[in-house]
Amino acid sequence: GDNVLYLAHRHGIDLEGACEASLACSTCHVYVNFEYFDKLPEPEESEDDMLDMAPMLAENSRLGCQII
Ligand code: FES
Repeated sequence: GDNVLYLAHRHGIDLEGACEASLACSTCHVYVNFEYFDKLPEPEESEDDMLDMAPMLAENSRLGCQII
């Protein structure tokens, strides 16, 4: 699918995605511009659980592979 992780890769942006979008890592952690952050649907609980493991967690943190 066209999630942010795949879009980043397609555009040559170096974002890791160790588990290939299966919600088993937090290496696709991104910060979303607040202007867009509020427009995204709430993260699933499974995303939140993985996100908690991400280093440098911030208010606008999401997992890139879960942003569609
Ligand atoms: Fe592993 Fe996104 S690539 S959770």
